[in-house]
Amino acid sequence: MQSKKINVHIIGGGNLGVALAVGLSKFCNDAAITVTRRNVEQIRFLEKLGMRVSADNNFEIGQADIIILTVKPYQVDNVLKDILPHLNHAIIASAVSGLNIEALEEKTKLLHAVVRIMPNIAAQFGQSATCISFSENNKEAGQRIVSLFDTLGTAVVIEEKLMNGATILGACGTAYALRYIRAAMQAGIEIGFDAKTALAIASQTVKGAAQMTLEEKAHPEQLIDRVTTPQGCTIVGLNEMEHQGFSSSLIKGIKTSFDMIRDL
Ligand SMILES: NC(=O)c1ccc[n+]([C@@H]2O[C@H](COP(=O)([O-])OP(=O)(O)OC[C@H]3O[C@@H](n4cnc5c(N)ncnc54)[C@H](OP(=O)(O)O)[C@@H]3O)[C@@H](O)[C@H]2O)c1
Repeated sequence: MQSKKINVHIIGGGNLGVALAVGLSKFCNDAAITVTRRNVEQIRFLEKLGMRVSADNNFEIGQADIIILTVKPYQVDNVLKDILPHLNHAIIASAVSGLNIEALEEKTKLLHAVVRIMPNIAAQFGQSATCISFSENNKEAGQRIVSLFDTLGTAVVIEEKLMNGATILGACGTAYALRYIRAAMQAGIEIGFDAKTALAIASQTVKGAAQMTLEEKAHPEQLIDRVTTPQGCTIVGLNEMEHQGFSSSLIKGIKTSFDMIRDL
């Protein structure tokens, strides 16, 4: 007998919403996915992947088991005003940066279980580092959301006070890592590779390094020791990067992003 699908409605089919939708369609067989945005033509391609799309947030919303909010913070009130009267039993999982659980509970008048999530766009490839927070009274709903996001990479439950930090390290972190890849690619071109080959080597090298830290659970420096021969070319390059402020500029950049999100 076929088990009943979980109806997931993603409201806000933009960068994150589409990444989550595509990821869920690939990695979560149990999910029946609906995605909405006002300019619905932009997401018609999702229909070819078996999803439903609509410009109407209330399209079959009464059957939703999970609502994932992926709109900008200033769009939340309009969306909730639109959908709340038509929801039945749905859990609301919000990826909206800066919108805390207390505010969400106030906006939803405690009529629905709310969960705060911070995924990243690598969810599309089943590689998101998703951080999740929920209050004690929404534990069961929270665990359902953890199970859903486990299919899209890793899902860890964190204290809500760390959500801004999770936004910077996990969501913005994608951009920081991509900037590293771009810089390595540019250097690769300077030392003789064509752009395509340089990008392929730089990307796979980062993926391999990440795989090592994830699987061996070792400190990066321990793994670096395996690559650095005394007086060799790796250590001179690494030390020069540090002389030029490599770690320091990364830490300062992350802290600058964090200071900004904290003040929003
Ligand atoms: N991008 C990321 O990597 C990332 C990661 C973690 C968290 N987030 C958070 O996720 C949220 C979305 O970010 P994003 O980068 O995906 O933004 P985005 O690309 O601008 O997507 C927002 C989408 O919401 C739609 N929208 C606006 N008003 C709507 C309404 N009333 N009903 C339905 N859809 C509506 C917009 O499409 P229309 O104008 O066509 O309606 C747009 O496609 C933000 O709160 C952000 O902080 C983003």
